[in-house]
Amino acid sequence: MGKLFQYNVGILICWALVLMDIAAEREYFIPDGNLTWDGARNHCQICFKELVTLTPDNSQLITQRLNSEHWIGLRKNLNSSDNSSMSWAHWANGDPLFFQNWYPGWPVFKSPPPKIDCCSCSCTCPINTPTETMSITPVTENTTDFYLSNESASSLWDSFTSGYTTSGLPLKMESECERSPMPVVLETNKSESYIEDSCVAMLSFGPWVEKSCLELLPYICFEDRFLGQVNVTNVTLTTATLAWLPGPGDITYYRVEIQGDVERKYNLSSLIHDVVNLTSGGFYKVQVFPVKCKRDLNPQNSTFYTVPNKVTDLNVIHVTNTSVTLSWNKPEGKMNFYLVKYDGKEIKLETQLDVNTTINGLIPGGLYTFTVQTRVQDESRRSEESNITTNTKPGKVSSLKVSLYTNRSALLTWTAPEGNFTGFRVKVTNANLNRTNNSEVGQDKRDVLEENLPDGSKICFSVRTLVNYTSSSSLNYTVLASEGDEETTVIYTAPGPISNLLLSTDEKSLTASWSPPNSNYSSFIVELKLDNVPTDTTNTNETTNTTVTFSELKNSASYTVKVSASFENVRGPSVKNSTYTLPSPPTNPIAITITSNSITFGWNAPVNSATPLYHVKLNSTIWNYNTSYDINSSTNYTFTNLTSGTKYQFSVSVLAGGMESNPATCSVKTVANKVNITLAMLCSSVQPLLCGDETSMTKVLAKLKEYFTTRLGDSIEWTPPQWKNPGT
Ligand SMILES: *[C@@H]1O[C@H](CO)[C@@H](O)[C@H](O)[C@H]1NC(C)=O
Ligand SMILES: *[C@@H]1O[C@H](CO)[C@@H](O)[C@H](O)[C@H]1NC(C)=O
Ligand SMILES: *[C@@H]1O[C@H](CO)[C@@H](O)[C@H](O)[C@H]1NC(C)=O
Ligand SMILES: *[C@@H]1O[C@H](CO)[C@@H](O)[C@H](O)[C@H]1NC(C)=O
Ligand SMILES: *[C@@H]1O[C@H](CO)[C@@H](O)[C@H](O)[C@H]1NC(C)=O
Ligand SMILES: *[C@@H]1O[C@H](CO)[C@@H](O)[C@H](O)[C@H]1NC(C)=O
Ligand SMILES: *[C@@H]1O[C@H](CO)[C@@H](O)[C@H](O)[C@H]1NC(C)=O
Ligand SMILES: *[C@@H]1O[C@H](CO)[C@@H](O)[C@H](O)[C@H]1NC(C)=O
Ligand SMILES: *[C@@H]1O[C@H](CO)[C@@H](O)[C@H](O)[C@H]1NC(C)=O
Ligand SMILES: *[C@@H]1O[C@H](CO)[C@@H](O)[C@H](O)[C@H]1NC(C)=O
Ligand SMILES: *[C@@H]1O[C@H](CO)[C@@H](O)[C@H](O)[C@H]1NC(C)=O
Ligand SMILES: *[C@@H]1O[C@H](CO)[C@@H](O)[C@H](O)[C@H]1NC(C)=O
Repeated sequence: MGKLFQYNVGILICWALVLMDIAAEREYFIPDGNLTWDGARNHCQICFKELVTLTPDNSQLITQRLNSEHWIGLRKNLNSSDNSSMSWAHWANGDPLFFQNWYPGWPVFKSPPPKIDCCSCSCTCPINTPTETMSITPVTENTTDFYLSNESASSLWDSFTSGYTTSGLPLKMESECERSPMPVVLETNKSESYIEDSCVAMLSFGPWVEKSCLELLPYICFEDRFLGQVNVTNVTLTTATLAWLPGPGDITYYRVEIQGDVERKYNLSSLIHDVVNLTSGGFYKVQVFPVKCKRDLNPQNSTFYTVPNKVTDLNVIHVTNTSVTLSWNKPEGKMNFYLVKYDGKEIKLETQLDVNTTINGLIPGGLYTFTVQTRVQDESRRSEESNITTNTKPGKVSSLKVSLYTNRSALLTWTAPEGNFTGFRVKVTNANLNRTNNSEVGQDKRDVLEENLPDGSKICFSVRTLVNYTSSSSLNYTVLASEGDEETTVIYTAPGPISNLLLSTDEKSLTASWSPPNSNYSSFIVELKLDNVPTDTTNTNETTNTTVTFSELKNSASYTVKVSASFENVRGPSVKNSTYTLPSPPTNPIAITITSNSITFGWNAPVNSATPLYHVKLNSTIWNYNTSYDINSSTNYTFTNLTSGTKYQFSVSVLAGGMESNPATCSVKTVANKVNITLAMLCSSVQPLLCGDETSMTKVLAKLKEYFTTRLGDSIEWTPPQWKNPGT
């Protein structure tokens, strides 16, 4: 406490007048208790700024608040040590004395002053009785500031002056008073009232009188309204540094009040304070009240947000081709909204809850880093960034095609999807063997050659787009979809060749049989074609058997059979073999022309034969004659250089593919050229006449005929021998 309160002061009334044309707002105070002028000034200087300085403007307002006389900041000899200074020169705060409002008769001079023709008019007229019964309102230490606008101030003033005129003074006198010079002397023995070093008090209705400075009176102090400012610096999640301006005069301490989710009050003598243990992202209002003589001066204010915490558990929970769903937990403390940044874009999420949010409009397979930050309402504070890197699901390839180069190699081609990717996975599955080959190709490839495909298999090709940004992205890289959807296509490879193709024929039909291939097959395709007949249509049969018979074929014809296995309509290589149908014999062989040394034979071609090759033969046993010829196309043949009268055996057959048909035969004799042959017989019998015996001769002739018959038979033309007697 100490010296400050030795006057037992309190503040009776205080109010402030807002003067709009002055930068500093001036406030007026009437402290509790009566003091000498010096004591009053001392108190004003300690607890306020100075005793009041009056002006035309403030004196009107101040008067409204008075109900008794009060010391004001005016003294005849303010600076007593400085004798050279003139009386009534300055106000206590040093302002020059531009304005005076003396009660008539004051100030009192030591000797009568010279007559004054005209003086500056005082517009204040005397009032009957100076207040001696001023009531004192109960003492309070509270400070209450009054701010009066110009209008309310002037209306108060009006009511005051009107009340004054109705209290007995005629308006006329008021106007006279304004026009005539103020009377210099109203009473004759004023020298009694002369005070050497007088102090000035203001009467309750305004005018001033001189008083002995030792009188105990209430007094009016003033102080300019303090305008300071709190600076908030070094703001962290939970701390901030506050700095403020020193208050005017002798400040007892500074009361720092912090309001927000926590309320703090500190009484400090320093001008700086570190506040700790605040809530992150919280909003705080700071007021620093300089306290002087137990009175709060105008506070210095500020508001601030602490830095909000960053979000936790930032995760990617779902991705599609064009969207990413992120989730995170609200951080501890407070915040006002989230800001999600990616790819140069920003999304503001006005919620203070845990979040699942889906970000759309991304490109397939793209690599994105999402940064999530919390911010406070005015965006003055931003949390640290939490970030996560992920990629959208890559697109699906299109136009997947397989073209078989050979039975065992295929070229796979495709069109890349929209968006980004780093490669492709090509999967080749042999469905029959459940065997899969995986391979990865770079992002520039659009085709793959698959070789060594198995025969007769269902092969599935699938291509997926891949993304793998592990080498190019930060450690916090979450991959939910490294592969796009699968595009597939199926092909069937051709079965292997059949084996052991065997053909068997008769005259009209052909049977082919074979062994199936080692690989899968679903059917066989058998093609039959007549050789060397380009116009002949191919006879095709599809069967699941390993044998097929074609009937109603031409005989003696060369047929080629091709057999291939087929799997799901894909044909394997064909195996071929050729054979002939059995030949049929010609019919109706006849001798068309017969001479003694030639025969022309003719015959009919066999029914339903292809262009046959005939084999003609002629023989004669008697002459041991044998000849044969092969002839094309013609159905007759002439044999020459034959022996007359000889029976010839003719045969004709058809040759085909090394096979020969049964022959058609006939026998014909050439025309005979007759020759007589004489036999002379010598009889050697011992019995005479026996040789000439008729019986014997008949017997001999019979024996001869028998002999020739045995030897010649039918083979040549001959007549039996007859007797011709040599004598006759
Ligand atoms: C100030 O005034 C209020 C209301 O008039 C009162 O409640 C409070 O106790 C006073 N404070 C002091 C310090 O007297
Ligand atoms: C203070 O002075 C005023 C005016 O002279 C008077 O009315 C009041 O009674 C005095 N108060 C005290 C406590 O002396
Ligand atoms: C601080 O705020 C209070 C009201 O809360 C106000 O009266 C005062 O004038 C403000 N201080 C400043 C320096 O503006
Ligand atoms: C900021 O505040 C922290 C914690 O109160 C303190 O350790 C640090 O020194 C301060 N920094 C500055 C530049 O004031
Ligand atoms: C507050 O900051 C302003 C601008 O930096 C500076 O001029 C002023 O002196 C500071 N006030 C305090 C109390 O530190
Ligand atoms: C801040 O809070 C911690 C833990 O609650 C406590 O130990 C510490 O004393 C507090 N500091 C201040 C200055 O209040
Ligand atoms: C976010 O998604 C996860 C996973 O689907 C689910 O467990 C969680 O409840 C969701 N949270 C909200 C706030 O929707
Ligand atoms: C997609 O790829 C292009 C070309 O490589 C690149 O410039 C772009 O940044 C990528 N976009 C994303 C989202 O990954
Ligand atoms: C991601 O966050 C880490 C620290 O959490 C930081 O070092 C890095 O720079 C951030 N990356 C981006 C792209 O913001
Ligand atoms: C292939 O796998 C399927 C199902 O997994 C099974 O039914 C089939 O028998 C398997 N085939 C072979 C040749 O292993
Ligand atoms: C991605 O590429 C890196 C090398 O760049 C490789 O080590 C890693 O195995 C790849 N990841 C996948 C899933 O293919
Ligand atoms: C093919 O052979 C099957 C049986 O072997 C027979 O039923 C079918 O008529 C034949 N088709 C042709 C075009 O020869």
